Amino acid sequence: MKTPITELFGIEVPIVLSGMSWISVPSMVAAVSNAGGLGILATGPLNASETRKAVREVRSLTDKPFGANATLMFPGAHENAKVLLEEQVPVINFSLGKGDWLAKAAHEYGGKVVATVVNERHARSAEEQGADALIATGHEAAAHGGDATSLVLIPALVDAVSIPIIAAGGFIDGRGLMAALSLGAGGVAMGTAFMSTKESQLHDTYKKLSLEKTIEDTIYGPYFDGLGCRSMKTPAALRAYRKGLFGWPNFLAAFVNSRDIARSLGLPFSKLLVGALASGWNNAKMMAYLANAFKMIRSATEEGDTRKGVLPTGQCVGLLHEIPTVAQLIDRVVSEASEIPARLARTVE
Ligand SMILES: Cc1cc2nc3c(=O)[nH]c(=O)nc-3n(C[C@H](O)[C@H](O)[C@H](O)COP(=O)(O)O)c2cc1C
Repeated sequence: MKTPITELFGIEVPIVLSGMSWISVPSMVAAVSNAGGLGILATGPLNASETRKAVREVRSLTDKPFGANATLMFPGAHENAKVLLEEQVPVINFSLGKGDWLAKAAHEYGGKVVATVVNERHARSAEEQGADALIATGHEAAAHGGDATSLVLIPALVDAVSIPIIAAGGFIDGRGLMAALSLGAGGVAMGTAFMSTKESQLHDTYKKLSLEKTIEDTIYGPYFDGLGCRSMKTPAALRAYRKGLFGWPNFLAAFVNSRDIARSLGLPFSKLLVGALASGWNNAKMMAYLANAFKMIRSATEEGDTRKGVLPTGQCVGLLHEIPTVAQLIDRVVSEASEIPARLARTVE
């Protein structure tokens, strides 16, 4: 299958593994790239030396193109992004920040840069900053989809910019891939679909829950990690979204959790705290939200904790009916998509 995205990255099928913390790890990235798509390593929970090690591990598992992400507003993300440049990662995916310096440096070694955006203003700005492509994340998506759904976001961005678009949010099968291509995208990025594959490190408890959930079983709101975020609807998620940072226990938990994050990223806590406060009250509050959310996502993903854990999940979880291998998922999406033109020819005159 050839699209502007397969041409840009030198891959065989226009399917991208979204960068998901604790799931898009080296083995998963390599599995997707080896199956012909583009795996994107999630660097959010990693410090600079862990990022370097992870990139090298991906290279030991595949000789195919791959990518890595950097969520620029997260603590430690700039340091990780510099490692990605030093390691000459083929595709760098940035979000929530300015990536002009990344684009300039990546282009010098022949790398490509993809910006994740949720609206037209950010799409135009990312194109001006030198992005080679965009990941456009619709409202249906797990975690941080924008206000607009994929059905309207994709054509709006296709009209707004001239670089290729990768559609994210709600894509899980061949119908979705063909719909994205029909709307003008060059491919899809999938999170929810890949988190529920055999190779995924997602805890079995949540893989099983994914099979039970319907398209209505997600929750979206601003009081979980401080941004509009979508997660699997469970009693724990409903509680976490309702409480947010309200009340001293949650505020104190944010303090303790931020200290843990600073420790795991190898950053002095005082520097993290002063940096967050200096960036203004709104940013400091967002960091506090993020610290608590990070802990809950990690315990859902790694420990399968349903009492306190919360898992980002997209609406397409309701379209999941099995736990395939990565290669089976990619083959199925591509073969379903390739049957659609003939079906349309029979049903549309
Ligand atoms: C379990 C899980 C964890 C995620 N973690 C992150 C993350 O750490 N950083 C990020 O930018 N997006 C994260 N996402 C969102 C994905 O990158 C992607 O935008 C989304 O999954 C696409 O929508 P879909 O789930 O409908 O395929 C996560 C998604 C899931 C399902």
